[in-house]
Amino acid sequence: MFSAEEYRLKIESELEKCFAAASELPQKGLAEAMRYSLLAGGKRIRPMLVLEFCRIAGGDVDKAMGAALGIEMLHTYSLIHDDLPCMDNDELRRGKPTNHVVYGECTATLAGDALQAEAFGSVLRSALPAENRANCAEILADAVGLDGMCGGQYLDMLWEGRELTEQELTEINSRKTGALLVAACQMGVAAAGGSRLMMDAAGHFGAALGMAFQIKDDMLDVTSTDEELGKPVGSDAQEKKNTYAVLMGLEGCRKTVEKLTDLAKTVLREAFEDTEFLCSLADALANRKK
Ligand code: IPE
Ligand code: IPE
Ligand code: MG
Ligand code: MG
Ligand code: MG
Repeated sequence: MFSAEEYRLKIESELEKCFAAASELPQKGLAEAMRYSLLAGGKRIRPMLVLEFCRIAGGDVDKAMGAALGIEMLHTYSLIHDDLPCMDNDELRRGKPTNHVVYGECTATLAGDALQAEAFGSVLRSALPAENRANCAEILADAVGLDGMCGGQYLDMLWEGRELTEQELTEINSRKTGALLVAACQMGVAAAGGSRLMMDAAGHFGAALGMAFQIKDDMLDVTSTDEELGKPVGSDAQEKKNTYAVLMGLEGCRKTVEKLTDLAKTVLREAFEDTEFLCSLADALANRKK
């Protein structure tokens, strides 16, 4: 078993190698923009989930690395585009100026586009058996397209400034944030060639964790500071976003995060034995400061 810090270091050192060879190419400026956001830090939760689910489902963690790097590339693309002036219009991410502030909107858009394509390349070129690789890529595709992250980002924008029901807000968040976290868990199981039971439990765990994660993200936008969070607080209010903080207040959010975290741990234990790492990760995310 690895600690979160060991996983993080392993992931960082592999990410460091990505697109480094492009420094001789005429399009090296694009590679630089991609690496700028990819290597800017970040908690690396999604790749960690891929690797740990692969491990507890009986797979080879080293062979799943390509899939883990792929989901972090995909996530980084979503952050670059989320920050663009036409979307959340934010200027700070992972403690640094956002991609478009440094490289301009055109290059930032292309850096996101290229990271999305490279994400699938990384999954499909991983050292996993061909069938497992293909399953991972399909899970990722389903999580980020029309029914997943992009669908959620669209609704987030479409319903800005209008009062939402809890059901509508859940519709947004389960797609814009939940879907990729579900995919991370299920890609780990797929990488290991795990059972249907494991796949379903990973999905339920990811969905509960994902919901708790976005509620906590909304809380931090109200309670944290730019320095601690590494992104601008108050951005949601400024953009008239619908958030859980608005819908249920901070105390309501706190209770819901606690409930969802307990639920995540319970469903996990129903299908897996070695759940210590993931249970403490769920607790750490519920109590995170950034
Ligand atoms: C931020 O994700 C975007 C949301 C889905 C809320 P993270 O909080 O995982 O961001 P990084 O990767 O640590 O920067
Ligand atoms: C966006 O949610 C989630 C993504 C798909 C990137 P937010 O807009 O709340 O994410 P942050 O707060 O900017 O990281
Ligand atoms: Mg957003
Ligand atoms: Mg945002
Ligand atoms: Mg947010």
